[in-house]
Amino acid sequence: MSTLSHRGEIALTALEISRSFGGVQAIRDVSFEVEAGTITALIGPNGAGKTTLFNLITNIFPPHSGVVSLFGASLEGWSPNRVATAGLIRTFQSARVFPGMSALENILVGRHRLANATIPGQMFRTPFARREEKALIGSAEDLLEVIGLADDRDTHAPDLPMGSQKLLDIARALMARPRVLLLDEPAAGLNDSETAQLSELLMAIRESEITVVIVEHNMSLVMDVADQVIVLEAGRLIARGTPADVQADGRVIAAYLGSSEEECPERGSA
Ligand SMILES: Nc1ncnc2c1ncn2[C@@H]1O[C@H](COP(=O)(O)OP(=O)(O)OP(=O)(O)O)[C@@H](O)[C@H]1O
Ligand SMILES: [Mg+2]
Repeated sequence: MSTLSHRGEIALTALEISRSFGGVQAIRDVSFEVEAGTITALIGPNGAGKTTLFNLITNIFPPHSGVVSLFGASLEGWSPNRVATAGLIRTFQSARVFPGMSALENILVGRHRLANATIPGQMFRTPFARREEKALIGSAEDLLEVIGLADDRDTHAPDLPMGSQKLLDIARALMARPRVLLLDEPAAGLNDSETAQLSELLMAIRESEITVVIVEHNMSLVMDVADQVIVLEAGRLIARGTPADVQADGRVIAAYLGSSEEECPERGSA
């Protein structure tokens, strides 16, 4: 499988995927495509099934029916680890930094997919393992630079502001060299300037030809960065299109107006 992606190529496909838990049909017959090198936003009211869809795509819970493909390869029967190794990397909605570790060490946690040295090699610090470790630290330092935290390299990560912790979480995922990156509510808990920084980071990630799917409630962020918006309601895909198409879609407006806690896409503020 080539690791270079080209715009126009289909990075991720879901074909009629469904999954129930007990009697609850959490995802019903959902189909969509994500073009390589683009940002897709997955939106919908609380409980719509957005996180569940990420769990199905990454095979944390396999779909009961339907197929997910990554650059044309079906992921059916793959372990979540194999899915990650193929370049489909996700962050978690409740993700926090690891306590007891610096900012740099938090990013290095994402390196496992890249390390080639054997365990004995790492334990006894062979020249190969030492060279590899140095290169990985260099990459993690570059990522700290990209997210604007170079000066906090050695800061205890939990002491950083929430926005910086969220950016570290994304940098950790980037350290695993994703081809497709799934982010579950990366802007939750961020202030306006942190959200603006996140938006720039997302565009920089797209520039580097990594395909992004983002679950997000912050509609101004979604409308700013997304090339495609997918809307879920009660486990069904009710709309898919450009941000403008989706904002004008009657079913989408109704889905949001029916849910008092949610922000209606039409209103477009944070
Ligand atoms: N492992 C599970 N066991 C039982 N029910 C589940 C499981 N995973 C998801 N569900 C159900 O699937 C539905 C969708 O939940 P999900 O967390 O995917 O929603 P969401 O769109 O991510 O919501 P939010 O915006 O609040 O994060 C809910 O009814 C939830 O209870
Ligand atoms: Mg969720």
